[in-house]
Amino acid sequence: MSIELPALPYAYDALAPVISQETMEFHHDKHHAAYVTNLNNAIKDTEVADWSVDSLINNLSAVPEGIRGAVRNNAGGHVNHTLFWDILTPGGATAPSGELAEAITAAFGSLDALKEAVAKAGATRFGSGWAWIVTDGDGKLSVVSTANQDTPLMGSAIAGCTGTPILGIDVWEHAYYIDYRNARPKYLEAIWGIINWDKVAELYADR
Ligand SMILES: [Fe+2]
Repeated sequence: MSIELPALPYAYDALAPVISQETMEFHHDKHHAAYVTNLNNAIKDTEVADWSVDSLINNLSAVPEGIRGAVRNNAGGHVNHTLFWDILTPGGATAPSGELAEAITAAFGSLDALKEAVAKAGATRFGSGWAWIVTDGDGKLSVVSTANQDTPLMGSAIAGCTGTPILGIDVWEHAYYIDYRNARPKYLEAIWGIINWDKVAELYADR
């Protein structure tokens, strides 16, 4: 069974003006679609052809060496973008509440301090990658970043960090260049207006 591209959970123009319809069309229909196509092509007719994308991500070292790099990039690209679409929404809550809000205060002191940490992680990621809020099994939050399409789910030996992502911000140029040109920090500031805090809280509760 092949791995499929999920539909966006909202319209292509729903996140404008923070993220334009044009960016969403390219980002979802071209970039994310390419990761899915390339992943299916990489695993086709191999011993991992029937593995779920989660199994591939969690067991990269068991993937045949000849396709491991392609699986790392494209399975990573697929799960990272799937999460990214889910944690964005038009007109969501402006701030987290409940258990997640308490965990943010415990780890960072305030929501603004958390936003600053994510913005710094994203702005200082050289080249392409992601900025993440992750939780450990005990619910402790931290901010990390990864290169390319690596995810903390791949583990520290591969991704350089660990944890379960509850929010991920794409800092590849394809995520912001049409709307912000080279101004990655402006994109990282504006994106807080479209975060789906209810979804982030749900991912935190499911850790
Ligand atoms: Fe992307």
